[in-house]
Amino acid sequence: MQASYQIMTGKSYDQTSVGGIEEEESVMDVVEQKQRVRKFFDSSDFWQGKVYRDPADRFARAVVRRKLYALEMIRTLPIYRGARVLDVGSGSGVYAAELVKNGFMTFAMDISEASLKCSRDEIGPARNYDRVKFLCADVESLPVKNETFDLVLCIGVLGYLLKYQSAITELHRVLKPRGYLLVNVENLLSLSSIDYFYRKRLGSLVSSGTNGARDNGSSTAMESPWVRDHSPTGYRYYLYHPWKFERDMHQKGFRLIDGMTFGYPFRLLRKWKFVSETTLDRVELLLEKVFRVVRVPYFSYSGETYTAVFQKN
Ligand SMILES: C[S@@+](CC[C@H](N)C(=O)[O-])C[C@H]1O[C@@H](n2cnc3c(N)ncnc32)[C@H](O)[C@@H]1O
Repeated sequence: MQASYQIMTGKSYDQTSVGGIEEEESVMDVVEQKQRVRKFFDSSDFWQGKVYRDPADRFARAVVRRKLYALEMIRTLPIYRGARVLDVGSGSGVYAAELVKNGFMTFAMDISEASLKCSRDEIGPARNYDRVKFLCADVESLPVKNETFDLVLCIGVLGYLLKYQSAITELHRVLKPRGYLLVNVENLLSLSSIDYFYRKRLGSLVSSGTNGARDNGSSTAMESPWVRDHSPTGYRYYLYHPWKFERDMHQKGFRLIDGMTFGYPFRLLRKWKFVSETTLDRVELLLEKVFRVVRVPYFSYSGETYTAVFQKN
């Protein structure tokens, strides 16, 4: 992805610049990143619903489980029917549709018009009711009054931002006092990316940071090696260091209610087909259950995806 970015813009990610130029470049980066992300989601049939309709591969099955775990977390929250709920980055609309079914006053919001249309379709005839609204907007600048929502979902969205600080400030602003935020990001410390984490750390020690971890605001996130290699539209995707993320959330005025990780790709075992796919799926589910119930240091946070509920102070 770095290479394609260089070809298209004539500049490199790792370039360092000074003063006003740095500012200007970072604004350009942000605009470009958002354009690429929007372009990707405007035409991704995977995220426009295929993933939920036909979870053919392991990644898709993990996305389906993400939905189950997230809905389970929501069920434990003391939120009444009729409460106002915002689904930021609603995508195909599967979460928004559940929220509507559960009687919440639901706002589906996405930066991609095409995704928003999918959310409408997924919600079905209920979309015409007064209690469902659709907004095409950016999580970093929500066209919503302060203290509007009892619950905000932000699932699989923050990884597409170059910096997440302003998004968190916005999410905090639109939540009512004691309101809940359910957030999901990819885990930098997962067993499957831990080697990447340490290689980058070593790299940044050797090169004073310019070629190492690319910071997205507070040293908590780094580019995903997978997306860097596979992203067709060349956007960057960030993995989050869960403990640092939790610390940042605390500083932004949130209290952690519940956090978990899940997803174990076993890349080498899968690649070399030592063990059958079905067995690996079973082991994956078993590990998720065990580490959720028995809190084992590190291992309970070693899955590839991190989901947590925070409460606004
Ligand atoms: C990976 S999909 C997840 C969709 C849905 N939450 C789910 O889990 O099925 C990410 C969604 O976030 C949206 N998105 C990306 N950047 C955004 C931004 N800055 N503001 C709002 N939505 C954004 C994308 O258009 C896409 O629909």
